[in-house]
Amino acid sequence: MSTVAKQNYRGRYHYSPKEKWMNDPNGLVYFAGEYHLFYQHHPGGMTWGPMHWGHAASKDLVHWEEFGIALAPDENGTIFSGSAVVDWRNTTGFFGEEPGLVAIYTRHCEAEGTPPVQTQCLAFSADKGRTWTKYEGNPVLAHDVYADFRDPKVFWHVETRRWVMILACGQTVCLYHSPDLKAWTFGSEFGDGLGFHGGVWECPDLFPLAVDGDPARTRWVMLVSVGDDPAFPEGSRMQYFTGDFDGISFVPDADSKEVRWLDGGRDHYAGVSWSDIPPEDGRRLTIGWMSNWKYANLTPADMFRGAMTVPRELALEDRDGVVILAQRPVRELERARVPVLTLAGATRREAEAALQALRLDSYELVAEAEAGRSFAFKVRMGGDQETVVGVDADREEVYVDRTRSGKHEFHEQFRGVHTAALRPRGGRIDLRIFVDRASVEVFACEGQAVVTDLIFPDPESTGLSLEADDEDFRLISLSVFEMAPRLPE
Ligand code: FRU
Repeated sequence: MSTVAKQNYRGRYHYSPKEKWMNDPNGLVYFAGEYHLFYQHHPGGMTWGPMHWGHAASKDLVHWEEFGIALAPDENGTIFSGSAVVDWRNTTGFFGEEPGLVAIYTRHCEAEGTPPVQTQCLAFSADKGRTWTKYEGNPVLAHDVYADFRDPKVFWHVETRRWVMILACGQTVCLYHSPDLKAWTFGSEFGDGLGFHGGVWECPDLFPLAVDGDPARTRWVMLVSVGDDPAFPEGSRMQYFTGDFDGISFVPDADSKEVRWLDGGRDHYAGVSWSDIPPEDGRRLTIGWMSNWKYANLTPADMFRGAMTVPRELALEDRDGVVILAQRPVRELERARVPVLTLAGATRREAEAALQALRLDSYELVAEAEAGRSFAFKVRMGGDQETVVGVDADREEVYVDRTRSGKHEFHEQFRGVHTAALRPRGGRIDLRIFVDRASVEVFACEGQAVVTDLIFPDPESTGLSLEADDEDFRLISLSVFEMAPRLPE
């Protein structure tokens, strides 16, 4: 067995670097048939350190090929989070006939005796992201007020025909615009007194989505990650707003007056979306870092530390008059499925017996049940270990209970039960549970409620089971697929 395969906690279908530390996804861009995934990387250590951009790319969002370091620190500072775009019209003048990639990142500079300074910089690549040149005119955007001034996400705003940048500024976001990615003009600031402020704002994103696919009901979605603060057990997490955006200002909808979380679990952070997905595809695709700043540097690890979530598709949906942001695993993941079990109308006992006969560590479990019933799947069971994924009908919640999931001693707040509120449709609850060697991601009610959690079970803890409140409980359907991504022949 190769060293890579032997590592207990390396996911079989989740991206992790071959070696060393990884945090946020960066520079997500689709170009020339490849989904690029750059990421915050410390190639010299197993904990956060001087930040580089690592690089991987995929043709199908399932298999990832890792390349060398894309951007490395220099005498001006280290490379924090940011985005990448295709400069189709050569607005920058960096390219000739063929379009190329431009990365917009934060340079973090720490000089002795002075506070750190964060500025925004450009780098460009004419060889599909394999090699990069830092722009000689860097930085392109600086500020003398904000200590935290980072994580630029840039997109082409069709209506005003110019670039827009959304940037985290302390505990708000600022919006800038530019004709050429080099000269930036301040547009507006958003967030004061709105949303959750128990931590620094980081890694924002802003994009339009059609509610229920109806272009006449397009809203803008703003994602904002909020950093860890010891006062809150949840640690770092992601909130979202919906509203209007005219190229200058974001005006929130009434629904956005209350805080809305993207994920009820503890391990989905710094998620942002891919740029330049072709219009004929039209999806809004995201990926997030599957960890939490509360304990990210302490998780059990061997050779590498850090994983991404499964790639997800976002959708805005009207559920009983409330517009919510749903997340669904990308359909490409279905290609990695190897069917193991399919049951229709199984009683609790039948389903329990079929599940108890299985031993799996990396799989997708898909189940449907009538709304109003409480039931729970146990995954990664073995010895005294189990991770419980269930529906609590009384509380109308889906939950992941990782109190007995495996290693937890590395942080006193790791153990716990994490929930997301359910809004069932059509009297049914559907669950898609993605289990891997060190994670559980639960998508309930077609992605309306999501819980993403790391777990650290023993490699031998591969059992499954089902529990339900009543003897007469039946599942409408149950399928289990081993997730065994094989490279295309
Ligand atoms: C979010 C973050 C960003 C920053 C990067 C540094 O996890 O703190 O705000 O750019 O990580 O690695």
